[in-house]
Amino acid sequence: MLTGKKIVVGVCGGIAAFKAAALVSRLGKLGAEVKVIMTRAATEFVTPLTFQSLSKNPVAVDMFEEPKSWEIRHIALAQWADLFLLAPATANIIGKLAGGIADDMLSTTVMATHARVVIAPAMNTAMFHNPVVQANLQKLRDVLGYTVIAPGSGLLACGDVGDGRLPDTDVLVDAAVCALAPKDLADRRILVTAGPTVERLDPVRYLTNHSSGKMGYAIARAACHRGADVTLISGPVHIAPPQGVVVVPTESARDMLAAVTTHFPACDTLIMAAAVGDFRPAEEAAHKRKKADGMDLAMVQNPDILLEVAGLRQPGQRVVGFCMETEELLPRAQEKLRRKGLDLMVANSLTEPGAGFGVDTNTVTILTPDGETESLPNLPKYEVANRILDRLV
Ligand code: CTP
Repeated sequence: MLTGKKIVVGVCGGIAAFKAAALVSRLGKLGAEVKVIMTRAATEFVTPLTFQSLSKNPVAVDMFEEPKSWEIRHIALAQWADLFLLAPATANIIGKLAGGIADDMLSTTVMATHARVVIAPAMNTAMFHNPVVQANLQKLRDVLGYTVIAPGSGLLACGDVGDGRLPDTDVLVDAAVCALAPKDLADRRILVTAGPTVERLDPVRYLTNHSSGKMGYAIARAACHRGADVTLISGPVHIAPPQGVVVVPTESARDMLAAVTTHFPACDTLIMAAAVGDFRPAEEAAHKRKKADGMDLAMVQNPDILLEVAGLRQPGQRVVGFCMETEELLPRAQEKLRRKGLDLMVANSLTEPGAGFGVDTNTVTILTPDGETESLPNLPKYEVANRILDRLV
């Protein structure tokens, strides 16, 4: 997700400095080149050697350290970076950046950069809610266009309970990926469906399928990163809601149809990645069915959401479908694309290794109404999502 990106992680002197080690490690694993600047106070909590080992680069602390080759180090780093990620950011660095004070390696370098800056404040709750700290954060957003990640809430190292925790590594990485994404979907409203549907048999049992929702959630996340206003209609899944995305939970195919019909008129594009169950029990029993009564199930067909919604389309609205098959993938995908009147169809085979349900990768072919096909290699679902969005753009 971050291949070739150059990220400077600024680590400040707070107990959450130890969590920055996991952050630096993860950014590296996602393909970024990472350089770390520590404040002097941060070195009281974690040694520079930790970050040097994890980033595989020298760590900058001292403004006046003799450089290995001639360079003005804070300017060189300021110009090198695509992104500055300050985690944890203390009240002190926030105050310095908002006040224009540059008196150490981190504050000088951030002040000298044209790269994007993301700040993750972490401190005691009372400090975080101090009006001066809040005003400083507002200034960093409004005047400098920095992104401020809201801190998590919970039991803090000082024993207080409240806002001020450094968010989990996943949240910090997501903010970095988002800050570096192109904003070519700004002003676009995208509706995505994801996950399985669930059809109840009785208060205990239900019929569903193996969809994990990972593909649809990756699309929602990627579209949001690219600046779109995203609504995600989700069947029951075990994935955290993506930051910045409005999630509408649904259960049955009919719930999903109602939600899609409500939200579609305000959207430019519908991407139907959900695995909608084609059938439901003719009757949902009010009480638990007893095994002595047997289980002969009469089934009725569910509405085809895509077919119904494609028919409501206004000029300019785009509709994208997914097609999952175990045989004859491309002819069937082409037939469904035509029959449902879609603008794009994404075909994925269940039989390919590393593709389909539950895994983090997928192998898909994108089909267009004029018969064009683009077969993508096996890629992380986030990357597949971006390729689909590229086609839409
Ligand atoms: N779909 C839908 N409503 C349904 C079934 C499917 O909106 N009741 C959507 C899916 O979200 C997907 C596309 O239609 O985007 C194709 O789904 P797929 O299950 O591959 O095909 P079906 O239309 O169900 O056809 P078949 O059962 O013959 O494979």
